[in-house]
Amino acid sequence: MKLPGLADPHVHLREPGSEDKEDFYTGTCAALAGGYTALLDMPNNPQPTSSLEALEYKKQLAAAKIVCDVGFNFGATPINAPLYPQVEPQVAALKVYLGETHGPLVFGGLEGMLSVFQGWNSPRPIMIHAEGPIVAATIGLAALYDRRIHICHLSKRDELVLVRAAKERGLKVTCEVAPHHLFLTSEDAAPDHLGPYGHMSPALQSGADLDALWQGLADGAVDMIATDHAPHTRAEKEGPKPPFGVPGLETAFPLLYRAVKQGRAGVTLDRLVDLMALVPRRVFGLPLGDSEIEIDDSEFVISSENLLTKCGWTPFEGQLGRGRVRRVWLRGQLVFEDGRVLAPPGSGRVLF
Ligand code: DOR
Ligand code: ZN
Ligand code: ZN
Repeated sequence: MKLPGLADPHVHLREPGSEDKEDFYTGTCAALAGGYTALLDMPNNPQPTSSLEALEYKKQLAAAKIVCDVGFNFGATPINAPLYPQVEPQVAALKVYLGETHGPLVFGGLEGMLSVFQGWNSPRPIMIHAEGPIVAATIGLAALYDRRIHICHLSKRDELVLVRAAKERGLKVTCEVAPHHLFLTSEDAAPDHLGPYGHMSPALQSGADLDALWQGLADGAVDMIATDHAPHTRAEKEGPKPPFGVPGLETAFPLLYRAVKQGRAGVTLDRLVDLMALVPRRVFGLPLGDSEIEIDDSEFVISSENLLTKCGWTPFEGQLGRGRVRRVWLRGQLVFEDGRVLAPPGSGRVLF
């Protein structure tokens, strides 16, 4: 079976500064192995992507190494709004961290939030990392300032209630859900199960939240699936202060496709293609129609041994997937075949 190339608007490729976890080459190899041909990279590097210089440097590094297309999201700080007019044409979106997370970009407080919503006057979305009442606050600001916002890794039933209400009012609000919030619950994060490997932000939630997200996938309240691919080394995860985050690029499609084939929540294959390929491309202005993937329909056991992500582990170890990615074509070139990346480093495009 052939499908359009998948697109993920939310990945952490870790370069520059955390190349022990991932780099532009290994991260984009993992993307191809997972059926993704376009990614958006997040700005929460140790030196965050919140200045023009940092953005330019990141693009240079990426251009030499990537094997699929990569665009960048710019990191908001409480004081960098004056850069927005110059930055806006060079990025897919603005990313705002309004809650606990990995990296130095977190801020709260009304003054900083106002500078973001007043300053970012663009059809490109403001991507929100927030939970609970802060999600409500950002929807309120989107309404007041007529801004387009995108709620990242929405994980709770009540947050989806807010997004549904915002959509009913015609506000420009979209949201994404991560595979870990669709297949794992807080019980999986128990010390005798995933332990630190189930530690991410937002945290794993209840079964009721998980069911609400599946309902949202089926009925359209959830716009897209984004992996929030956030690799960390095993040593860090098993250390005294395990960082938030799990890799996801290579496991997302097989997990989702298997669930769809089982009829979960009535999500159809067409809907899955919307969620993982067409809608993220439309919302974030990524290339459409220039890539294709070929899937083999059999089931397989997900194993860290076959992963191309540098971190070398997955929270879905031992789970069943279906629909291994056999081949990927990008702009007519065969770039991945049966576990091997054929595209040379630097053959992917830097977007925007
Ligand atoms: O789990 C997470 N990991 N959530 C975030 O917001 C950041 C990410 C990371 O960079 O590791
Ligand atoms: Zn986040
Ligand atoms: Zn993230």
